[in-house]
Amino acid sequence: MSVPPLIVLTGAGISAESGLSTFRDPDGLWARHRIEDVATPEAFARDPARVHAFYNMRRAQLRDPAIRPNAAHHALAELAARWPAPFLLVTQNVDDLHDRAMGEDAPGLLHMHGRLGHARCLRCGATRPWPGDLSTGTPCPGCGRAGGMRPDVVWFGEVPLGMERIEAAMAGCRLFISIGTSGQVYPAAGLVSALRGRARTVELNLEPSAGSRLFDEARHGPATALVPEFVAALLAEHAP
Ligand code: APR
Repeated sequence: MSVPPLIVLTGAGISAESGLSTFRDPDGLWARHRIEDVATPEAFARDPARVHAFYNMRRAQLRDPAIRPNAAHHALAELAARWPAPFLLVTQNVDDLHDRAMGEDAPGLLHMHGRLGHARCLRCGATRPWPGDLSTGTPCPGCGRAGGMRPDVVWFGEVPLGMERIEAAMAGCRLFISIGTSGQVYPAAGLVSALRGRARTVELNLEPSAGSRLFDEARHGPATALVPEFVAALLAEHAP
């Protein structure tokens, strides 16, 4: 039996057991912050200091040694390394936990909503690693101008990254696994429907998501339990 080209989609739920908040769970980020205050281009134009404070708080978590990749991130890193057919891990997460598990700039990893640990200058367009804080006065290390540095994340109303690559992978995809996402944000939430009838689709999530019924199979429970088990079974079948 031939090995199916694979796309894995991840969301905030895969990082929850590492200690990072999800967005739409009762204790999630969107219960404490309004999207229109911190996650739109309009919010940044209106009150950049407030937007910087939100992302500085989240960037500080990535520097916290207690926040590390968990068993689900490591299982996907093993899957990426051993899958004997085309593989793409598309993450909506801006954290760097997949990167740490898979290795920096892993070829099979695509951050469709950008990366919290990078900053972009709106004046010269350069993007660079940015582990520390940003403020309205931060000058760009490249062009020297201040006031244009922003987190290199995709805000509501902006176009996700890597869509051409995702579409190319979707064309050949025969197995799709969605992990830890509520299925409420497009275009990520639309991938499962686009694959209907062409690929085996599997949801691994703490609870049924908004789009659960669109999947061929759904398993519910914590990612650190579900993902290693599912990956081990897949590898035993296709890459023994
Ligand atoms: N294991 C598996 N799934 C979990 C766990 C866990 N330990 N904890 C929570 N979940 C599930 C929740 O049940 C929920 O369905 O993860 C999902 C998280 O959903 P959201 O908070 O909506 O996160 P996500 O789907 O990644 O959000 C998509 O919205 O605002 C944004 O840009 C942000 O990329 C993000 C996008």
